[in-house]
Amino acid sequence: MVATVKKAGTDLHKAVNSMEIKGKIAIVTGGSRCIGRAISLMLAKKGVQIAIFDLDEDKGKKVSSEIRELGRNSCFCKVDISSTEEISCAVDKLKNDFGTPQILVNNATVDFAVRKGGIEDITESIWDKIMAVNVKGAFFMAKKIFPYMKAEGGKIINITSVTAQTGSVFGQIGYVTSKAALIGMTRALALEGAKYNITVNAVAPGLVRTELLGDRVGKEKLAEMVKNVPLERPAEMEEVAEAVVFLCSNDYMTGQTLYVCGGSYFS
Ligand SMILES: NC(=O)c1ccc[n+]([C@@H]2O[C@H](COP(=O)([O-])OP(=O)(O)OC[C@H]3O[C@@H](n4cnc5c(N)ncnc54)[C@H](O)[C@@H]3O)[C@@H](O)[C@H]2O)c1
Repeated sequence: MVATVKKAGTDLHKAVNSMEIKGKIAIVTGGSRCIGRAISLMLAKKGVQIAIFDLDEDKGKKVSSEIRELGRNSCFCKVDISSTEEISCAVDKLKNDFGTPQILVNNATVDFAVRKGGIEDITESIWDKIMAVNVKGAFFMAKKIFPYMKAEGGKIINITSVTAQTGSVFGQIGYVTSKAALIGMTRALALEGAKYNITVNAVAPGLVRTELLGDRVGKEKLAEMVKNVPLERPAEMEEVAEAVVFLCSNDYMTGQTLYVCGGSYFS
């Protein structure tokens, strides 16, 4: 992370320990399972302390205890990120009981069963639900954390999707729209954060081999989807997590989206 060095009346921004994320505190939303769990575990392996913000208490507490077994501090906070009130209470409590977060990974998303479907399937309430979690939730998490990061800098990483560029074979119009919004939000926040050494970037996975992939997609559809990926396989969750770790460690990239999609889209 970056420190600001004052010299002879001038602010010189100087990279200090730019690759050092050890000891930092990260919030990972949606960290209870799949990609969020992989991100949490990989950050923990790099020495980061992890606060999981998720609705799924049983799974989230298990991930937290896996992290503690790795020798890192971790806690689980049951939070519905579509509620600004819940976000506010949870972050304040975290700050008092655990410490001030320097990293935020906005990873949570509404369930596939909710977001699946195209223009004919999506009702107003489904649309609102998708936007409330994927866009509003991510924004208000960032807004709440922002003042805490202003003093010493920080990293915000939004998990979007390659479907923001390509569309989805499942329709998922609300989801795709929300993921495209996250890319715009990443750029706008990057400009706001720059003067405080807060970098804001996004990671856009393509198809990922999560524990739920088979159930969600089905074998036949999966084979067809893999054929359209130049690298001819889904990403492993750890490959997405590696991109997050990189963005947490780099001080000079901001407003960018890293596509972890096996070549299915070139930015
Ligand atoms: N799985 C993929 O193939 C894939 C591909 C591209 C992008 N992504 C993106 O990666 C991220 C993770 O995907 P995943 O497949 O691991 O997701 P997932 O559906 O398996 O997990 C999402 C997590 O978010 C939590 N969550 C949902 N609503 C919440 C709320 N209101 N408040 C707090 N937590 C909430 C869930 O409980 C769950 O633990 C998402 O942003 C997704 O859009 C995934």
